[in-house]
Amino acid sequence: MIRSREDYCFYLEADRIALKIMRPWHEFFINDIWRFQRLLRKLEYYINCRQSLFWRPYILYLNLKHIRLGRRLGFHIPPNVFGPGLSIAHLGPLIVNGNVRVGENCRIHSCVHLATQCGSDDACPTIGDNVFIGPGVVMFGNIRIANGVVVGANSVVNTSFLEEGITIAGVPARKVSDKGFDRCYFKATAVVRDHAGKVPGDVSRLQDGSMAKSVLPRSFERLFRYINRRSG
Ligand SMILES: CC(C)(COP(=O)(O)OP(=O)(O)OC[C@H]1O[C@@H](n2cnc3c(N)ncnc32)[C@H](O)[C@@H]1OP(=O)(O)O)[C@@H](O)C(=O)NCCC(=O)NCCS
Repeated sequence: MIRSREDYCFYLEADRIALKIMRPWHEFFINDIWRFQRLLRKLEYYINCRQSLFWRPYILYLNLKHIRLGRRLGFHIPPNVFGPGLSIAHLGPLIVNGNVRVGENCRIHSCVHLATQCGSDDACPTIGDNVFIGPGVVMFGNIRIANGVVVGANSVVNTSFLEEGITIAGVPARKVSDKGFDRCYFKATAVVRDHAGKVPGDVSRLQDGSMAKSVLPRSFERLFRYINRRSG
């Protein structure tokens, strides 16, 4: 959850790397998913960190903007659900209950529904870090999904999976293999943490140097300059 300005910067940076956004301002105007995620993080920051009455009208404005953009793109994603490094793969229906909790670096495809069990308002899934959610997945009820799990396309997940780094698929979902998240996506938060305080552009420790080389340097300079300024 975003608790400070530094968290806000961290979330934005991790999301940007997860989405492979190379030119954030340029893409702001052409990449609707990036625009949506930025707005979502901004809303989360203001809801969590600016709680005085003074900010209420602005939060209301951000909320309306978030709902309108979400409607246009087919996303119903309330604030404070996803951890940093969220990567929404495509436009299209994405319905997430506000009580769902998802960890870092979630890669989520279209037509996914993360919901409550019928008849309950808060029996929702809790999903770990580095989880890949394939297209058409439905997850519901008070279940837990461990870190590094891959959920195959069109799966219906109604029970917990506590073993890390496995692949589950089917209706209802079952473990189908021991291959996990690592082959499916990139741990954006690890990239941001690895680079904290380092010279921007030092990509020697990245898992995927070629991609990160082009996205990291300028924004990191800005991020760390900003954090240093804030911390005096
Ligand atoms: C789950 C997935 C990642 C494959 O995982 P994997 O660990 O490589 O699994 P395998 O391909 O080795 O398959 C293992 C078994 O699971 C089954 N299986 C795989 N995916 C399945 C799915 N989505 N639903 C039901 N069964 C599935 C396979 O048929 C196979 O069964 P078998 O052993 O009886 O032959 C893949 O099937 C999938 O769903 N990918 C989503 C792709 C995607 O999101 N594409 C969008 C990109 S934009």
